[in-house]
Amino acid sequence: METIKQRKQTAVYVYEAPLRLWHWVTVFSIITLCITGYFIGSPLPTMPGEASDHFLMGYIRFAHFTAGYIVAVGFLGRIYWAFVGNSHARELFLVPIFSGKWWKEVGHEIRWYLFLEKTPKKYIGHNPLGQLSMFCFFVVGITFMIITGFALYAEGLGRGSWADTLFGWVVPLMGQSQDLHTWHHLGMWYLIIFVMMHVYVAIREDIMSRQSLISTMIGGWRMFKDDKPD
Ligand code: HEM
Ligand code: HEM
Repeated sequence: METIKQRKQTAVYVYEAPLRLWHWVTVFSIITLCITGYFIGSPLPTMPGEASDHFLMGYIRFAHFTAGYIVAVGFLGRIYWAFVGNSHARELFLVPIFSGKWWKEVGHEIRWYLFLEKTPKKYIGHNPLGQLSMFCFFVVGITFMIITGFALYAEGLGRGSWADTLFGWVVPLMGQSQDLHTWHHLGMWYLIIFVMMHVYVAIREDIMSRQSLISTMIGGWRMFKDDKPD
C-alpha cells in the first residue's frame, strides 16, 4: 500500500517591506523609462497639426522625467535601506569578491544554470551569481543612467540650474551632447539585457531550485521545499 510522504517546508523571512516595495516601484518606473526613452530616441512619425497642440513628445518626455525622478529618489532610498535594513539588504552593494569560497559558489551556480549540476544549492538571500550580476548590471547600470539622465536634464533646465551644477560636468566628459545621448541610449540596452536574464532566472529558479523566488520578492518569505520524508 502506498503511504503519504510527509513533506517538510521551512520558511525564512528575507526581504523586508521597503525593499520589496522599492523593487516593484523600480520595475514599473524602468519599464516606463525604456518605452518613453525609446520614443525620445526614435520619435513616432510626424503628427498632424501644431506640436504644441497635441503635445505628444511633451507627454512622452514628461513621463520619462517623472519616472526618472522616481528611480533616482528610490535608489537613494535603497542605499539608505542598505544601512538600516537587515543583512540581506546589503547583499546588492557588498559583493565579497575577495572570498575564494564565494567565487567557488559562483562557479557552481554557473554550472547549475548551464544544466551541468544536478542539485541546486539553497541560499537564504541572493545566490552568488545573482549577487554578482545584480551589482555589475543593475547597480552600475542604474547609477550610470541616473548620472547621464540628469546631465541631459540639465541641458533642458539650463546653465546654473541645480542639475547643471551637480551633473553639468558629465557633458564635456562624454564629448558633447550627442555623445551623452548615445551613451544614455546604450545604457538602456545594458539594463534590458539584465532584465531579460533576471526574469528568466527568477522564473527558472522558482520552478527548478525547490525554493521560492518570485513570491519571496512579494511577501518577503523564502520557502524551502524538501522532498525527503521527515
Ligand atoms: C525592470 C525590471 C527589473 C529590475 C530592474 C529588477 C531588479 C532587481 C534587483 C536590483 C534585485 C535585487 C534586490 C535587492 O537586493 O534589493 C532584484 C531581485 C529580484 N527580482 Fe527583480 N527586477 C526586475 C524585474 C523583475 C521581475 C519581472 C521579476 C519576477 C518575475 C523579478 C523578480 C525578482 C526576484 C525573485 C528577486 C529576488 C532574487 C533573489 O532572491 O535572489 N524582478 N530585482
Ligand atoms: C532606466 C533608466 C533610463 C532609461 C532606460 C532611459 C532611456 C532613455 C533613452 C533611450 C533616451 C533617448 C536617448 C537618445 O537616443 O537621444 C533618453 C533620453 C533622456 N533621458 Fe533617459 N533613461 C533613463 C533614466 C533617466 C533618468 C533617471 C533621467 C533623469 C531625469 C533621464 C532623463 C533623460 C533626458 C533628459 C533625455 C533627453 C530628452 C530629450 O532629448 O528630449 N533618463 N532616456
